Amino acid sequence: MGIVVNNLPRIREECEVLHITDKQIREIMNRLHNDLLKGLGKDTHEKSIVKCWITYIQDLPNGKERGKFLALDLGGTNFRVLIINLGENHFDMQSKIYAIPNHIMTGTGVALFDHIAECLANFMKEHDVYEERLALGFTFSFPLKQLGLTKGILQRWTKGFSCSGVVGEDVVQGLKDAIARRGDLSLTVMGILNDATGTLMSCAHKNPYCRIGVIIGTGSNACYVEKTKNCELFDGEPGKDELLINTEWGAFGDDGTLDFVRTEFDREIDANSINPGKQIQEKMISGMYMGELVRLALVKFTRMGLLFGGHGSDLLFQRGSFYTKYVSEIESDKQGDYTSCMEILEELGLSHATEADMAGVRHVCESVSRRAAHLVSAGIATLLNKMAEPRVTVGIDGSVYRFHPHFHALMCDKIAQLVSPGIQFDLMLSEDGSGRGAALVAAVACRQSQQAA
Ligand code: GLC
Repeated sequence: MGIVVNNLPRIREECEVLHITDKQIREIMNRLHNDLLKGLGKDTHEKSIVKCWITYIQDLPNGKERGKFLALDLGGTNFRVLIINLGENHFDMQSKIYAIPNHIMTGTGVALFDHIAECLANFMKEHDVYEERLALGFTFSFPLKQLGLTKGILQRWTKGFSCSGVVGEDVVQGLKDAIARRGDLSLTVMGILNDATGTLMSCAHKNPYCRIGVIIGTGSNACYVEKTKNCELFDGEPGKDELLINTEWGAFGDDGTLDFVRTEFDREIDANSINPGKQIQEKMISGMYMGELVRLALVKFTRMGLLFGGHGSDLLFQRGSFYTKYVSEIESDKQGDYTSCMEILEELGLSHATEADMAGVRHVCESVSRRAAHLVSAGIATLLNKMAEPRVTVGIDGSVYRFHPHFHALMCDKIAQLVSPGIQFDLMLSEDGSGRGAALVAAVACRQSQQAA
């Protein structure tokens, strides 16, 4: 038997670059706070990185919304169509997932909207509402400059989409045009919103303290309630004190603000992405990138001879082969147990991994996910401190938050350390924020237009 060398201490040392110190976290919070102010400010908005888009949503649901609504949800891993019934004491929702094939994600905008309209028509037929004129809410989870509740100009694609002819255009119009091209559906688009906004709406429907919505899924973003007087660009109906701001914080760092904590792995992810230089914070946090960050570290440590006896596998060296869900699975093993880890390494062609290797792999996963949880916590604490309200519930959705076994606990601990004294917070998992939120936005808009009529 050869000599067994314990490489774990070396791996731990190497992973130190993924550890963000408390001092660095505070610095990140200061920088994010400044960027939020720039996004909100009239003279600074244009050059700002964290855009803080106005959503034109000024009313949270009051629980009295009623009726049948359709919703579209585009922007995560899946595209969904939903029908939602809001009743006195019940909430009934049916939905169907449709694939967005890669050639549509990267094809033309017209093809994308035609595909969406077709899925919508099929869904309406299946649910016997094909002939009805229903109100629709559209969750479109990309950066939108909103000019009203039903008008939003796409600023940039994120998360692997790149359909041509949509950036700079009104997305609601794109959808309406596709519906008109078919000529068989009669719908009223009542509102367009982001998934973070939907999450906030859907949690607020149940919990009046909910004032922040966060997504930690394919992408990363937050929406919060801001005082209208702080939104210098707001030109809508005066008289309401508050409105919802879609921060688009995933872009934080695009001007180099986060370079002091970025690593070689982050730079490589960015360089190989479809949108280099963009969505820097998101690339350090979200599900689209987390598995790949782990893989890059594993590759490096294998090449250094610290893992797998220096022998990788074809799959390990292949981009995208280490799924983000593996991180959650590996960290779900109890301390000292490596059942999931072993299965995953076998799938990757690394059945020669020893127990020491597995401990190393787990440590890499923990370093990457812990950093992500701390960065999101820094963002949430910045918002909580800025809002300075005594009690706030944060509604959170997204696959990373939902499925990672320790994300919630890591965030609770970190945020508690970072919030100003006297602020009480809690984190609430949002049940299907983006779908429900779209229906609620449509419902609130309908309620208001009925009141106005
Ligand atoms: C990306 C999008 C943003 C969305 C987030 C989460 O950051 O730009 O609009 O909310 O992903 O899906």
